[in-house]
Amino acid sequence: MTDTALPEQDLPRRLAERALRASGVFWFSVAMVGQAAFVLYIVLFYGRSGLAGDYARWNDVLVGGWRTGDMVGNATLALHLLLAAVITVGGPLQLIPAVRRRWPMFHRWNGRTYMVAAMLASLGGLYLAWTRDLAGEVAMQVGISLNGVLIVVCAVMAWRLALAKRFDEHRRWALRTFVLVSGVWFFRVGLMAWLLANRGPVGIGEDFDGPYVRFLAYGCYLVPLAVLELYFRAQRAGPAARVATAAVVGVLTLVMALGILGAAMGMWLPRVT
Ligand code: HEM
Repeated sequence: MTDTALPEQDLPRRLAERALRASGVFWFSVAMVGQAAFVLYIVLFYGRSGLAGDYARWNDVLVGGWRTGDMVGNATLALHLLLAAVITVGGPLQLIPAVRRRWPMFHRWNGRTYMVAAMLASLGGLYLAWTRDLAGEVAMQVGISLNGVLIVVCAVMAWRLALAKRFDEHRRWALRTFVLVSGVWFFRVGLMAWLLANRGPVGIGEDFDGPYVRFLAYGCYLVPLAVLELYFRAQRAGPAARVATAAVVGVLTLVMALGILGAAMGMWLPRVT
């Protein structure tokens, strides 16, 4: 049935549905640009210096970083960074409907690679987080560790539901996995959006502590996860809730775009040029 053939009372429902979908596409398009910038940074900074054998350069950025003599830790870190690049390329590709439709085999293999890479990166990250010094206080360690555990749980759920051919539920758990895996990216984007909006480090201490850092340690994945749940609920709700959710997603996407710009200009670009 076409839009023109619809009864008039269906129009608000249709428009609300479109607004919600458009907000999701808007969010995803902006996130894709931001994740592309992040992966370029990972490859050009860590990949390039790693291939040249200049691992010490990693310590220009990292606090734990490359440590002479720590073979296990250094190998874990190198693998973590390699997997970070694989995940950041593979994740967005999984979510493009046209790719899923046209190349289902690619979707399946990329999905398996993504899930394994995300779980390994999280387990390696957990090891690094608890064996090395990190930026910030213990809230950062606990926050990112919970992020890692949730990634493993959601990835296992998404995988099992795909095997059981329960594709609707699989889609929801895969999206939760994607949002959680993007937690480290949201951290950087959330930090830069905050710094730009406040024109300075409000709520951020000199040792990378303070209330905003504590909030972001958990908020970087729990807030996006909450918004995703809101979006899922709005898909089953009435027109008013759909439009309200579309507006929330739209505004948050603009904030995210500001953070991406800040992270690209302030963090990533200066390290690769
Ligand atoms: C799964 C998605 C993840 C991605 C894409 C990712 C990506 C990265 C990147 C790019 C870095 C380099 C830091 C920078 O240049 O900004 C890094 C470092 C690190 N990540 Fe992850 N990470 C992920 C998950 C985790 C998790 C779940 C943990 C902990 C449980 C973790 C712990 C660490 C640690 C400890 C470092 C080294 C920090 C340092 O030495 O100062 N990562 N990660």
